[in-house]
Amino acid sequence: MRKKIDKMPAILDFLQSATGLVLALFIMGHILFEASILISNEMMYKVTLMFEGYYFFGERYPGIISFLAAAIFVIFIVHAGIAMRKFPASYKQYKTITKHTMRMKHEDSSLWAIQVITGFMMFFIGSVHLYIMMSQPSNIGPFASSSRVVDEFMGPLYFMLLLSVISHAFIGLYRLALKWGFMEGKNTEVSRGRFKFLMKAMIVAYIVIGLSSLAKYTYIGVTHDFSDGVRYKSETIKIGEHK
Ligand code: HEM
Repeated sequence: MRKKIDKMPAILDFLQSATGLVLALFIMGHILFEASILISNEMMYKVTLMFEGYYFFGERYPGIISFLAAAIFVIFIVHAGIAMRKFPASYKQYKTITKHTMRMKHEDSSLWAIQVITGFMMFFIGSVHLYIMMSQPSNIGPFASSSRVVDEFMGPLYFMLLLSVISHAFIGLYRLALKWGFMEGKNTEVSRGRFKFLMKAMIVAYIVIGLSSLAKYTYIGVTHDFSDGVRYKSETIKIGEHK
């Protein structure tokens, strides 16, 4: 009798790649939308209204943000859960991996180690952020977000989250391209070098954008007078009082 092939490892591998791709694309959009604060408070407010469905329904529905955050949270948990099988399971395994990585000085193995460390960090800090977004969806806006960064001490957490998520996302995309055969040109060395350059350039660009936004939220948080609350009053859109 022919033995049945166990397809589970292949399914898990595919699921890890697919969820990773969705999360990486999400974070690329997220950092840019949230950088609207660099243009103006009004622009960030308009982006917030867009995600609340205001331009579609004519009314604000912050529940849409909760729903989106919950969906991302589920994908995040599935991705982390599947990735756990690749974590070193004992101190002995951990020692062997670090010894080999140090001795080989092989950049792709070091990239794998960075993925494990940044992934582990995000288990905790990513979850805190996602839970807040899910439970307080109407607390987003130029003033509410700045107040959270400064008065609720989210600044240091965002700083660590930014460094870990950006490195993790772009190293992940590079490894995906490698794994699914996008670097198999005539000269694999050359195409691998190009993808690696692109990966590093994107990491630097996104970290610069993210840090600039964080600096702007911090600046508003420190300089704005929040004594009458964290509500932002739009110059052009009059729909009552808004965050
Ligand atoms: C639908 C889910 C999400 C929503 C609605 C959301 C929304 C926001 C908002 C409004 C801010 C600005 C600060 C604030 O208001 O507190 C922010 C900052 C940030 N978020 Fe998210 N976020 C989501 C998911 C994620 C995920 C999954 C990650 C990474 C694992 C992430 C990483 C970050 C980082 C690193 C910052 C600081 C960015 C900077 O330094 O410029 N977010 N997020």
